[in-house]
Amino acid sequence: MTRAIIITGTDTGIGKTVFAAGLAGALGGHYWKPVQAGVEEGTDSEIVARLSGLPRERILTEAYRLATPASPHLAARLDGVEIDAARLALPQVDGPLIVEGAGGMLVPLTESLLYADLMARWQAPVIICARTSLGTINHSLLTVEALRSRGLTIAGIAFIGDKHEENERIIPKLANIPSLGRLPLLARLDAKTLSTAMRQNIDLAAVRAAL
Ligand SMILES: Nc1ncnc2c1ncn2[C@@H]1O[C@H](COP(=O)(O)OP(=O)(O)OP(=O)(O)O)[C@@H](O)[C@H]1O
Ligand SMILES: [Mg+2]
Repeated sequence: MTRAIIITGTDTGIGKTVFAAGLAGALGGHYWKPVQAGVEEGTDSEIVARLSGLPRERILTEAYRLATPASPHLAARLDGVEIDAARLALPQVDGPLIVEGAGGMLVPLTESLLYADLMARWQAPVIICARTSLGTINHSLLTVEALRSRGLTIAGIAFIGDKHEENERIIPKLANIPSLGRLPLLARLDAKTLSTAMRQNIDLAAVRAAL
């Protein structure tokens, strides 16, 4: 059976793809972005191919590649595509599979299916990526509640951004989840700097244990 870990975020643009690339590289795993909405400006899979240091075949093909950078339910409608949850089953691979959602977890894939519902079908542990700055307490705790209400296991929260001691302390405490550390914003972002930053800042042993 595939040992998957789901990377979700408290919002779009949080740094999920960068974190997922670093994690896939550090674990020597595979990466999968099931639904890519917006392809012209480059895709998350292309970024992961560049930043993970993994061979191209470890980056699995998306189930859906939609043209418009919008919520998947809208991007699909604009493309005249109907997203079929049956096509979104976890692919079977050897070794860890890092799966990246779209935006936050209550993003709709169809008129009646939220990303969170799909995650509940997958039944894999989830890592929440959260910014460190103002607003993150509310967004992070809401995300935790939504995951818990669907019976999902939270492997931990990974902060991304500048150090904020209080937010990094209070969120794991209030939510009763482990902190996996904080990935700083890297002035130079490439496979080498990301790999070093992941090793230095993220509790990879805790992630491995959750798989
Ligand atoms: N640790 C980091 N250091 C430097 N830049 C970063 C870091 N994390 C993210 N970024 C930058 O922030 C932007 C958003 O990051 P990213 O694409 O990973 O977000 P996302 O949460 O995956 O977004 P989406 O919801 O669109 O998938 C990108 O330009 C990325 O290069
Ligand atoms: Mg992304």
